[in-house]
Amino acid sequence: MLEQIKKTADFLNDAVIEKPTIGIILGSGLGGLVNKIEKEKVIPYKEIPGFPVSTVEGHQGALIFGKIGEVSVMAMQGRFHYYEGYSMQQVVFPVRVMKMMGIDQLIVSNASGGLNPDFKIGDLMIIEDHINMFGDNPLLGKNFEELGPRFPDMSEPYNRKLIEKALSIASQESIDVKKGVYVGTCGPTFETPAEYKMFRVLGGDTVGMSTVPEIIAARHAGMVCFGISIITDSGVPGEIVEISHEEVQAVAAKAEPLMTKIIARLTAEFPKL
Ligand code: HPA
Repeated sequence: MLEQIKKTADFLNDAVIEKPTIGIILGSGLGGLVNKIEKEKVIPYKEIPGFPVSTVEGHQGALIFGKIGEVSVMAMQGRFHYYEGYSMQQVVFPVRVMKMMGIDQLIVSNASGGLNPDFKIGDLMIIEDHINMFGDNPLLGKNFEELGPRFPDMSEPYNRKLIEKALSIASQESIDVKKGVYVGTCGPTFETPAEYKMFRVLGGDTVGMSTVPEIIAARHAGMVCFGISIITDSGVPGEIVEISHEEVQAVAAKAEPLMTKIIARLTAEFPKL
């Protein structure tokens, strides 16, 4: 596994002139940030040696290299989800490649269902913490010391300074943002009413099907992380209605420009940590 991570990192380092310093993972349908990147190079996943091969019809993704302001980034347009059948190691492979390329900062976005009754559909939530309900973990099995320690600390999964910075950007831009705990679950079913209630009781503010594996792998590797979520539907008792992937994507697309504004400024003005 290590050999492949190194090979892919070498391939990408050779392919670009500007070395990226920040990695960005954009959730499905949340690729608008790509338009804010002054692009140097776009590499489709299928042309990257070692990248997971998509088995899902119509699934396409690309790595975008370029600049936001003065900052060089490597953005993943589309991520690998556990529910698609990828192993946890495959889901987090790109994060490990980022680390091997010398990237120490990770920004992720996603869509999620609201559990906190104070949240409305279309709200943005800065992720302060998460709960792993995947029933799996990318670090199970042999530990590679080159990647990180056997028992990684998770006391600050999402960097507090980045949360503060994002909150201040949101306030300057008059964007209303919430803060809270993201529950990550494997999907692909949305939750039953009883499951939404359970996740709320457990301490969650939103629930979604991604992010947690990538953040675990990133923290294992000592990367500093930031995450933001768009609430696309409600899991609050009394508000639960039938939902579909299409509706989730439609709400995500509507709220996306505000999220993109926050991520673009956070990247360009990345605080010294
Ligand atoms: N549950 C799980 N994942 C989701 C949801 C949800 O309600 N909305 C968007 N992704």
